[in-house]
Amino acid sequence: VNPLAVQLGTTTLQNPLIPASGCFGFGDEFLDFYDPNILGAVALKGTTRDARDGNATPRIAETPAGMINSIGLQNPGIDVVLSKKLPHLATFYSQPVILNISGFSIDDYVASCAAADGKAEIIELNVSCPNVHGGGISFGSSCPLLVEVVRAVREVVTQSQLFIKLSPNVTDIVEMARGAVDAGADGLTLINTLLGMRIDLKRRHPVIAAGAGGFSGPAIFPIAVRMIHAVKSAIDVPIMGSGGVASASDALEMMMAGATAVQVGAESLRDPMVIPRIIDELPALLDELEIDQIADVIGEALAS
Ligand code: DOR
Repeated sequence: VNPLAVQLGTTTLQNPLIPASGCFGFGDEFLDFYDPNILGAVALKGTTRDARDGNATPRIAETPAGMINSIGLQNPGIDVVLSKKLPHLATFYSQPVILNISGFSIDDYVASCAAADGKAEIIELNVSCPNVHGGGISFGSSCPLLVEVVRAVREVVTQSQLFIKLSPNVTDIVEMARGAVDAGADGLTLINTLLGMRIDLKRRHPVIAAGAGGFSGPAIFPIAVRMIHAVKSAIDVPIMGSGGVASASDALEMMMAGATAVQVGAESLRDPMVIPRIIDELPALLDELEIDQIADVIGEALAS
């Protein structure tokens, strides 16, 4: 048996490692670096009903503590993703696919999800993009709105698994998680980026044109671990962990906190080989810790 295999809801992954949405486009951006078929799954770039150019530049800034982005959901729109990007991905990739879908209204989310249902193993509903007005995080920071959008989307998502990607920019992550699961989610992704800002001293202006942006990288890892641990302690739901993972031991730690799979975002932009390296290094780490199957560690750090 493969010691790295995990069961994510109804989807079997050959290992728990997944590039986070937005970090490898629609899959072809891997090809210069490694064969994406070694991955557990891929999460594709956040997709909306209509094509979008994204926010004004500069919209990415590296800081010593991590990256700030305000991409603003630049993407070609759901029709192009389904009719061109997915078929192209299928020519060189045969592991599970996660479609990340965002929107500006419940109608948007429902239309995109209805079109996408069954075209990928998992639909990851992005209710946590911090960089667009009147969409994204507006749905993920109000529990009643979150429940409404998940209920509406659940009606049209009958073939793919429905995971909800939640925001750390909330007071009570467990309340949000409970709302999403009670409204019909099959699983959760925790967490999207944390709102942050840096100021350029010479320009007397935030380094990001839009002002604030989503902060990611190792500094948010403890926040992600805490939120995953809190949610998994309260609700028995499959979780894809995300937030600052940069090593095999980080991945294992997130799984002990309750994640079944682990997404790698900012670090994979800094070093495209980080995910293949983690996959390579995990077996030796499991041996060292006397773990037979990686799936055995999921939630091991929860109070029993
Ligand atoms: O940090 C993020 N940036 N999270 C998202 O969900 C979307 C992305 C963007 O496009 O701004």
